[in-house]
Amino acid sequence: MIKRFEGRSAIVTGAASGMGLLTAKKLAEEGACVYMADINAEGLAKEAGEITKNGGIAFPCVTDVREYDQIQAVVNRVISEKGNVDILINFAGGFAPRMCGLTDRSFEHEPIDVIDWGIQVNFRAPMLFARAAIEQMQKCRRGVIINIGSVDGETGGGVDYAAEKSGLTYGLTKALARIGAPYGVRCCGVSPGPVLTRANMAQMKTALGRAAEPIEVVNLVLYLCSDEAAFITGSNHIIDGGRILLSNQ
Ligand SMILES: NC(=O)c1ccc[n+]([C@@H]2O[C@H](COP(=O)([O-])OP(=O)(O)OC[C@H]3O[C@@H](n4cnc5c(N)ncnc54)[C@H](O)[C@@H]3O)[C@@H](O)[C@H]2O)c1
Repeated sequence: MIKRFEGRSAIVTGAASGMGLLTAKKLAEEGACVYMADINAEGLAKEAGEITKNGGIAFPCVTDVREYDQIQAVVNRVISEKGNVDILINFAGGFAPRMCGLTDRSFEHEPIDVIDWGIQVNFRAPMLFARAAIEQMQKCRRGVIINIGSVDGETGGGVDYAAEKSGLTYGLTKALARIGAPYGVRCCGVSPGPVLTRANMAQMKTALGRAAEPIEVVNLVLYLCSDEAAFITGSNHIIDGGRILLSNQ
């Protein structure tokens, strides 16, 4: 098996579950040393332990990505142990009303603290991770940042969620790609449609008539992190089974 990430360091946020966890597993299988950042301490300890048991290198880093000092602590740890953050993938996030357990998910009735949660986790955290990591990436002339958006950022699904995800995968991604490019540092967005990290995503309509398996999105993320994608930067990569085609009808 070709190991595309041998010797590289990677921070994966949202790594205690879903696509972040699967990405952490796959990066470790392909030789990366993975720092798993998530607020879920129990999940992280269990999953990092599994990866290590299977011969990979993974460290659980309990992090609330709403807190800059915790973000900086993870980044500083990786830089002091590995010299650089070679790969940074921002998976932590989700549709705030669901993540905060609301049943009424209308924007008009959304509590301000729930809107703030979404802005902080989906948008501000990736910006702050980049702020903490990019200077060393530039010095090392090596690094790739992947921002996980959503097809909702394209279609306007969910007012605050759409705004956060499009701001993330367009404005922030392009700006980081711009300041990274002179140093060979890349930044890309990935915007999935429905993904079966939850069974109810199967109900969401796509042109292909199904939701994605998590591995389909993870494979795209891994490709963008790899040297095969060395000429790709500043772009957002939609992987939605054609959901956008339906919203334009
Ligand atoms: N599943 C989908 O259908 C889908 C579709 C489009 C986009 N996305 C995006 O993909 C990403 C991952 O989705 P998933 O379904 O794999 O998610 P998931 O819900 O399984 O994982 C999200 C992770 O983020 C962590 N998290 C939440 N708040 C945090 C905080 N303050 N600090 C640190 N970690 C925190 C959670 O503990 C969890 O492990 C999200 O950004 C989501 O918006 C998902």
